[in-house]
Amino acid sequence: MIIAIDGPAGSGKSTVAKLIAKRLSYRYIDTGAMYRAVAWTAEKKNLSLADETAMAEIAVSLKIEFVPDADGQSVLVDGENATAHLKNETVGRGAATVAAQKSVREVLVAKQRQIGKAGNVVMDGRDIGTVVFPQADKKFFFVADADERGRRRYEELKSKNPGLDLQNIIEEIRQRDHEDRNRKISPLVRAKDALEVDTTQLNIEEVTDHVFKNINNI
Ligand code: C5P
Repeated sequence: MIIAIDGPAGSGKSTVAKLIAKRLSYRYIDTGAMYRAVAWTAEKKNLSLADETAMAEIAVSLKIEFVPDADGQSVLVDGENATAHLKNETVGRGAATVAAQKSVREVLVAKQRQIGKAGNVVMDGRDIGTVVFPQADKKFFFVADADERGRRRYEELKSKNPGLDLQNIIEEIRQRDHEDRNRKISPLVRAKDALEVDTTQLNIEEVTDHVFKNINNI
């Protein structure tokens, strides 16, 4: 069984994907973290994110591991726990830049297919239902109002970033939406057979229950 959850930043997909994976005892794969890992590594090495060849080389060589833990899951990048670093909005913007590069996507999509091949996986991202696993058993496309998504991201990040500005976060989210929806390769779009879930007015439990019921045809 492969469950694909796509949608824009802050739509709730990672939180819900994690909870669904836990309920079903499936693996949860956060594909955004893979694009973020490439951007984060490039920034550490002071490489230009515009250098597609260098970004693709990083994508090939990076070892990205998803390790279940008390908080749900940690992401190890070349053995280092990078979970907190990867959440940063600057890294998110960098991820959107490298995610628009064809060779980077080819490498990461191949890795995602490899990971998902064993089945029983919940994978979230932007192109899981359209490109990575067009034959996924269940597909969801989450949407939510941009201001609400910005507020969620703000709440998630503010404890570790005291100077964070809500309006900046909303602006970042709008900018990233624009880039993700308008890029040439694998733009963010709902797969025709994906169930759209508008999470604006719903809490996490409500969304998770809705998705869970749909998976089980209840
Ligand atoms: O989901 P997350 O915010 O971590 O993703 C970061 C960025 O990575 C997205 O804005 C998008 O540009 C890119 N991405 C992608 N395809 C995926 C997952 C993420 O293009 N499957």
